[in-house]
Amino acid sequence: MTAQVIDGKAFAAEVRGKVAEHVARLKEKHDLVPGLAVVLVGEDPASQVYVRSKGKQTTEVGMKSVEHKLDADTSEADLLALIDQLNNDDSINGILVQLPLPKHLDEDLVINSIDPAKDVDGFHISNVGLLGTGQKSMVPCTPLGCLMMLREHHGSLSGMNAVVIGRSNIVGKPMAQLLLGDSCTVTIAHSRTKDLAEVVRRADIVVAAVGRPEMVPGDWIKEGATVIDVGINRIEKDDGKTKLVGDVDYASCAERAGAITPVPGGVGPMTIACLLANTLTATCRANGLEEPKGLTA
Ligand code: GUN
Repeated sequence: MTAQVIDGKAFAAEVRGKVAEHVARLKEKHDLVPGLAVVLVGEDPASQVYVRSKGKQTTEVGMKSVEHKLDADTSEADLLALIDQLNNDDSINGILVQLPLPKHLDEDLVINSIDPAKDVDGFHISNVGLLGTGQKSMVPCTPLGCLMMLREHHGSLSGMNAVVIGRSNIVGKPMAQLLLGDSCTVTIAHSRTKDLAEVVRRADIVVAAVGRPEMVPGDWIKEGATVIDVGINRIEKDDGKTKLVGDVDYASCAERAGAITPVPGGVGPMTIACLLANTLTATCRANGLEEPKGLTA
């Protein structure tokens, strides 16, 4: 079997289009403009690229984009004061603090100081608890993007065997909760899992989110399974140039899978599209308006 390629770039453009339409209606009917604030502490080059991209796409869908760039040695008190100010600013509906933070800042403390209703990353402990108990919450963007692609491809996921490789708070754990919410039988595998190959071979859906380049070979994939590759790893090629690869070995997995997301152009573009969708959802909830359909879990 040669896998169908799930085009995350095209799907993300569709999601952004829906968000932009909804944003235009909010402006026209309610004179509301959703606002997203992104806070970047320090000068991590990868984070700077993400933040620039988020700002650009936020503006493109008609939302207000605010960026706060703070020095790497910013004190915890100053960062918390900024978050407090954003929590109390009615023109801001979504707050995202770019991770990782410099070592001297307590990530959990900072994340949990964001108003849960504005926590468009879905990392606040309240949102984690709401998601875990099947209640309405803000859902982390990357797993939400993966879920949207899976629903688009399969329709119902009910009864499917899903294996999530990776147990991070940002992707693995919330991904497992979302798949469970859609009635999959879910296994979370990780670095200590025994006989990972056998576990993955049982999966109808494989979500790879470990951050290890090309670690899943094609012979782990059940014929016809759907493979969602969350990894974005830069590796050096034989000629000394670099390229981006995922957590699965694309060529061999594509030979056996029924469908697969490429890297780049799969999960990556969906993450920012879902951040915009979450900002829109937060705006609607904050104003007692109906939420957009198909843009939440
Ligand atoms: N750093 C890497 N991924 C993410 C994300 O989804 N949200 C935030 N805030 N920081 C990140």
